[in-house]
Amino acid sequence: KREMEEHDGRRPQPLVVLTSSPFHGHMTPTLQLATTLHAKGFPIAIAHSKLNPPNPSNHPSDFTFLPLSDNLPAVEGTGGFAKFINTLNNNCKGSFKEHLTRLVNEGNKPIVVIYDSVMYFAGVVADDLNLPHIMFRTTSASFIPALLLRQQVRQHGRFLEEDFVMQEVVPNQNLLRYKDLPFSKTPIEDWKQHVANYSQQAHPSALVCNTIKFLEHDSLTQVHNILQVPVFAVGPLHKLAPNSSSGSCQEDTSCITWLDKQPPKSVVYISFGSLATMETKMLIEMAWGLAKSNQRFLWVVRPGSVCGSHWLELLPEGFVEETRERGLIVKWAPQKEVLAHFAVGGFWSHCGWNSCLESISSGVVMICQPFIVDQMLNARYVSYVWKIGLELEWVERGEVERMIRRVMVDEEGVEMRVRVNDMKEMVKEAVGDDGSSQKSLEDLVDFILSC
Ligand code: UDX
Repeated sequence: KREMEEHDGRRPQPLVVLTSSPFHGHMTPTLQLATTLHAKGFPIAIAHSKLNPPNPSNHPSDFTFLPLSDNLPAVEGTGGFAKFINTLNNNCKGSFKEHLTRLVNEGNKPIVVIYDSVMYFAGVVADDLNLPHIMFRTTSASFIPALLLRQQVRQHGRFLEEDFVMQEVVPNQNLLRYKDLPFSKTPIEDWKQHVANYSQQAHPSALVCNTIKFLEHDSLTQVHNILQVPVFAVGPLHKLAPNSSSGSCQEDTSCITWLDKQPPKSVVYISFGSLATMETKMLIEMAWGLAKSNQRFLWVVRPGSVCGSHWLELLPEGFVEETRERGLIVKWAPQKEVLAHFAVGGFWSHCGWNSCLESISSGVVMICQPFIVDQMLNARYVSYVWKIGLELEWVERGEVERMIRRVMVDEEGVEMRVRVNDMKEMVKEAVGDDGSSQKSLEDLVDFILSC
């Protein structure tokens, strides 16, 4: 189709250049968006960090991969995250400019840049070269207004480090408490660095969000009012591009065979995504809570995610043996498959945005234990707005046991399950023919063609 258009003498399809960051939770939806646009006929180039690069063999052979010299030793997910983003942007900018200048000089096709919002250098470079640039947010839409609120709160001199302030609802808000705001757990110096980073963003020509209209209708309107550019809600992208893979982690598929042998809705799945780290004490309280709950569980313990240990050395003695009949621990699971499995009845999660979307799409209720950045906000929506999960306020064995039972056994869990199943159906509609996400995708395609 593309070739026909070129031979017809019409304007060729633009080359869409997407930037992919080293964070798993960002790279995955970026590559899903790339796959979705490729299916619409666009040629695709992926400019990616050399750290945690995507694997070209997992993607269509006509994708072009453009490595960016980043000089980064390892992903920094918690302490020093803002500084890491700053370095990533400073280091990648030069080679991105070289790649883009070369593509412009080749002059074969118009170029449209879609950049992950944490790789804001790409918007700046595109702006310098007079190329249209669309920002892609891997968080929820509500993150943007909440971030502005976070900035205002700081200007009003409220110190988020104070526990009593954290529990209060932000004035003139009926929804968010101070603790739900983005970066509420971030040390002040790191937060200042974030503000400095955000101020370097070029104003985008449009915004793409991995979200769904029915889920975040009001926030999407707010975002549109704030940015004054078209906003496209094309999520959940894992449903639009089910075969796309970021492929950077080795999935342990043996857990699916194990799940096959468990009764329906009997297993709690536990995973805190690709970045969160925890102290030993938390690991131990989690383990005791799981043991006391008497429920089945599938637990992802990412090697290195427990400070000071390689993998399971710090679990309470005898835990693995004692729970062998009803529990399994793996290093990395095929999460989407796990959540879609009949045996899974609940998801104890850090509430990363991808995990929230995947849980909702599979109709699985959640226990919310947020760690960093946007996860507190997502947890608030899951537990307080959508009412499809419970917030675990503190990780103590008795509380963990109660939470698991509330979600897996009690009437409360049954009611939440009804709501999340309704949402699952609404997701199906949104990504089906004439659904809101499909329509938004068509609008995005038209927008790119009009650039
Ligand atoms: C981060 C942020 O936390 C998130 O809020 C932000 O929006 C994107 O970047 P991460 O912490 O990794 O991502 O969490 P999440 O967004 O939930 O993404 C994790 C991804 O890894 C999901 O797609 C999940 O399916 C996948 N995963 C996780 C696995 O495939 N296997 C696992 O064992 C754990």
